[in-house]
Amino acid sequence: MQNPIFLETLQGRPTSRPPVWFMRQAGRVLPSYLDMRSRYSFWELMSNPSLAAQVTLLPVHDLGVDAAILFSDILVIPYAMGMGLDFTDHGPKFDKPLKDYDNPLEALHPDPSKLEYIYKAIDEIIKTRPDNTPLIGFAGAPLTVLCYMLEGLSSKSNFVQAIAFLYQNKSLVRKLIEVVTDLTIEYATRQIEHGIDAFQLFETHGGILPFDVYQEMFYPSIQKIARAVRNKGIKFIYFPKDIGSGLSTITPELCDFVSVDWQTPITEARKLVHPGVGLQGNLDPRLLFAGQKDIENELVKYLEFGKNEHQWIFNLGHGFLPGIPFENAKYLVEWIKSANWRRQ
Ligand code: CP3
Repeated sequence: MQNPIFLETLQGRPTSRPPVWFMRQAGRVLPSYLDMRSRYSFWELMSNPSLAAQVTLLPVHDLGVDAAILFSDILVIPYAMGMGLDFTDHGPKFDKPLKDYDNPLEALHPDPSKLEYIYKAIDEIIKTRPDNTPLIGFAGAPLTVLCYMLEGLSSKSNFVQAIAFLYQNKSLVRKLIEVVTDLTIEYATRQIEHGIDAFQLFETHGGILPFDVYQEMFYPSIQKIARAVRNKGIKFIYFPKDIGSGLSTITPELCDFVSVDWQTPITEARKLVHPGVGLQGNLDPRLLFAGQKDIENELVKYLEFGKNEHQWIFNLGHGFLPGIPFENAKYLVEWIKSANWRRQ
């Protein structure tokens, strides 16, 4: 059987078109997901291996994407450290955020066995996936995970309390980064042992700190996670959202592919990022609320870019948003798969 196009691209081999998948492709826009979600809570879907496997594969069946991403959440790591967590209608919420403890380190009790259900879901996906569809495993990067752990909930105010805490307690935060990094490495390693084909690290709040502060405090942990993943022979995709000119610091030592947000045009990103690192991205997800003609007008730029750029995976600049019409998502996949990319 032919190697899937997503893995060919990750391995640096030329293909006739870019592979396509989307962040948040399972749990936001698919009618089939919304139907399951009306019967089960998010926790139920995620923690039952058979349901999690079904949801993971929905976008492969319904949208025709070239890879599946494990249906789970980045906050399973703090949960496995004993932090009580609820997914409410307003986003995730921890019972007691770390900023409210006198000694936050003492509040954390990493227990890797609390992640076992996720490895069972991976086994189930691998048993039931069609045509060897590649499976992407993932985790959150330490800054993004710590934002939620420190502040306690998803915040519309730029995690003011979490970031103030970080500036006030840098040496403690360095220790917290270490604890999160260690469990993340164990988690990534186990995902790989259960058969994931690639690994993505989500630094969704990468732009929340001045880049020099981010780089100094967090790059060592990204490098550590990257090394652990690549030592096991798996390609490492890093998504440092909103780091802007920080893209010029992305080198092959850090990752194999970098996922780019929509603010930086893909052609600019190509100039900033080291030529040895592939790109993923970066359509503005809000474009999918517009008409199909408007979508096509923007895609033409990508056609030009993708003609000569084989080290590129098509994706959004961030995830699907609730309410995006399913037909537009489907149109996008079909457009990418059927366009004439004029590749030699
Ligand atoms: O297709 C997929 O959805 C793949 C699985 C996945 C989820 N979360 C499921 C989920 C992935 C890859 C994530 C990552 C994640 N989770 C990130 C990083 C990437 C990103 O999208 O920004 C972050 C920051 C989180 C934390 C989180 N989980 C938030 C802020 C929220 C609420 C807002 C939102 O995005 O919906 C969640 C809940 C969540 N995670 C849902 C799903 C399907 C919605 C739950 C529901 O159906 O009610």
